[in-house]
Amino acid sequence: MSTDASIRAADNRADTRTDTRAADTGAEARALSTAAAAAGHAPSIHNTQPWRWRVTGNELDLYLDHSRGLEITDPDSRLAVLSCGAALHHALVSLAAAGWHTRVARMPNPAHPDHLAQVRVDHRTPVTPAAVRHLQTIALRHTDRRPVVSDPVTADKLHAVVTAVESAGAHLHLLRPDQVYDLATAVDHAQRTEADEVAWQAELAYWTGGTRPLGTGIPDSAIGDRAPQTTVPGRDFGHYGDLPISEAHENAATFAILYGLEDGKLDWLRAGEALSAAWLSATELGVSVLPLSATIEVAGTREQLRRLLADLGHPQLVLRFTTADPGGTAAAHTPRIPADQVIERA
Ligand SMILES: Cc1cc2nc3c(=O)[nH]c(=O)nc-3n(C[C@H](O)[C@H](O)[C@H](O)COP(=O)(O)O)c2cc1C
Repeated sequence: MSTDASIRAADNRADTRTDTRAADTGAEARALSTAAAAAGHAPSIHNTQPWRWRVTGNELDLYLDHSRGLEITDPDSRLAVLSCGAALHHALVSLAAAGWHTRVARMPNPAHPDHLAQVRVDHRTPVTPAAVRHLQTIALRHTDRRPVVSDPVTADKLHAVVTAVESAGAHLHLLRPDQVYDLATAVDHAQRTEADEVAWQAELAYWTGGTRPLGTGIPDSAIGDRAPQTTVPGRDFGHYGDLPISEAHENAATFAILYGLEDGKLDWLRAGEALSAAWLSATELGVSVLPLSATIEVAGTREQLRRLLADLGHPQLVLRFTTADPGGTAAAHTPRIPADQVIERA
């Protein structure tokens, strides 16, 4: 081959490499946009969806969006950051199911504490059936506030949920029956404290009820049409909704405290990732999950939960587990903000 010909051949190879890289970057950006859209299905406090995403080449940045924060209920943004953690886990599930290897930097920029995470995709990796199943479960998972008469959740299923939490960097303490009464007292105290505050009630009323045409908040279709029979009270929404509640008592439920070893933003984010991991695994096992956050919102009852944990760590969220009713109708899904309002593509 002449020198010219070999240079042209080398140039062609270089062009091909450049084209492949360009195509790859496009594929990476598309996968990241898809992941951010999948993350929109994540659970969040009062369905506020307090996240914002930015896709740049092969990077996806997650930010806390204070414009949908709860100033009265969640002044430190702990539950908003936890919700963002759930969204981050959903995004990672989407990328794993699309065959992308990811690197995640949590709290990557100390000067910008609202920059919660940066996800970078670098190379392709084999897709596992579990990753595909988790992705499918994202669309099925939802909050069901109805009480269910059923068998208790089996020990092996609870063990699987605990494992899912720990693999996501948090911990789960399953409460003994005698501790459930202490929890019930704490929840009752927290709800009374909140109900006595006019500003708190106004914030709750703003985010709940009606049909929620803007895609945020909890519609009446997801709120019980009367108070369910419970030992541990569910969220008092200040009004009844349209979700038919049966006479069932939830006495077969298992209660647990999701906790972290420290109580900073990173721990709240990790707790959210663990919530998503636990909820997706639970849904696949036919276990229904209900988060209860009133005792976390009120500082005094958060301290009571800490004592229930025997100082093992810092409580982040209370969870109720019940066996899902296989013959039951699915509770309505809550609405979501259109993806293009929370995803920015650079
Ligand atoms: C941090 C956090 C706290 C929550 N607290 C409660 C609660 O106290 N009571 C309740 O009924 N639902 C609670 N939820 C469930 C949300 O209301 C629910 O995720 C949201 O409305 C979206 O609905 P979906 O889970 O059906 O998609 C909580 C969720 C999160 C992530």
